Amino acid sequence: MSEFETRAIHVGQHPDEKTGSVIPPIHMTSTHKQDGVGNLRDGFEYNRAANPTRSALQEALASLEGGRFGLSFSSGLAAEDAVIRTVLGPGDHAILADDMYGGSYRLFARVFKDWGVEFSIVDLNNFEQLEQSFIAGKTKMVWIETPSNPMMTIFDIAKVSEIAHRHGAIAVVDNTFATPYLQRPLELGADVVMHSTTKYLGGHSDVLGGALVLNDGELAKKIEFIQFAVGAVSSPFDAWLTHRSLKTLALRMDKHCFNAQAVANYLETRTDKVAAVYYPGLLNHPGHDLARTQMAGFGGMLSFKLSGGESAAKKFCESTKLFTLAESLGGVESLVNYPAEMTHASANGSPLEVAKDIVRLSVGVEHISDILDDLKQALEKI
Ligand SMILES: Cc1ncc(COP(=O)(O)O)c(C=O)c1O
Repeated sequence: MSEFETRAIHVGQHPDEKTGSVIPPIHMTSTHKQDGVGNLRDGFEYNRAANPTRSALQEALASLEGGRFGLSFSSGLAAEDAVIRTVLGPGDHAILADDMYGGSYRLFARVFKDWGVEFSIVDLNNFEQLEQSFIAGKTKMVWIETPSNPMMTIFDIAKVSEIAHRHGAIAVVDNTFATPYLQRPLELGADVVMHSTTKYLGGHSDVLGGALVLNDGELAKKIEFIQFAVGAVSSPFDAWLTHRSLKTLALRMDKHCFNAQAVANYLETRTDKVAAVYYPGLLNHPGHDLARTQMAGFGGMLSFKLSGGESAAKKFCESTKLFTLAESLGGVESLVNYPAEMTHASANGSPLEVAKDIVRLSVGVEHISDILDDLKQALEKI
């Protein structure tokens, strides 16, 4: 099973031995019968430690990211918490990009800062600035989100990872926007891949989850201990739903990419109302060439700037009919978001603050004509 689409369908999915059920059952149990004290069946004991449905998902996630170890959590932020808590302690320092998901920034700024973890915010495309931001003996992690949320900046995973390693730090890549179908950070030299599986991997806006994938066995053991000892694991049902969704990831991503490119091309023609479009598939995007080399497609997310400023951006968000105004992204249905007051409200007043004239779209897999018609009618309203 060497190809991505085949592994997405088959890894961890073996027909049930007893009944032949093609889809393995959901193991809705919190504990497992022991055949003697400490005599466990297949190592299963208590579900905070391991559950067969979660283990199957973890195996599939690792396979798709090309990593040895996969760990599944109850949310993306729970996954982030586990890796940060494992690698950074009081007195340590991390480097973050100047554009990233507001909740990830909040985790560093409002939770780990109080715990004594310092951080610097850096333009990760400015390698000179990056080199100078390491604090010898203290900087242990560089956090890379690419494409970034919401400005769609592309960062060079191979180059930033190489710089991080030279300074004794690890590189963690939030691969939520790209998915392993389009980008595999471990193959580019990153140490840990993180996902909000709530997004494209779950794909249907009906399940919250997070994941980490990595190759380093020692680090994996430490994170696995945090997963077990803190307990933010995915439930069997959430793990099952996510695993089911992985099977159509490739199909969905192809369509997301196709539709988002068409939307970006269209918005670029609307110079009467749209001041700028941020999508790495556009030739004029500053990260276009880099995206071509490190990604296999440009994804389903894009942002744009309204010439009419804040009021036009809000009016647009409230005028769509097919695009639902909602937090989150990556589902089959199109969503529209106003980052400054929704997903990135927690970054206001920080260097990551998102401008008030920016609208973010998660372009779904509906028919492209309906998607474009909706955008047209919403632009007419402003
Ligand atoms: C890029 C990115 N990373 C991480 C997260 C956090 O994931 P979750 O909401 O599943 O905790 C999000 C959520 O929007 C996100 O967009």
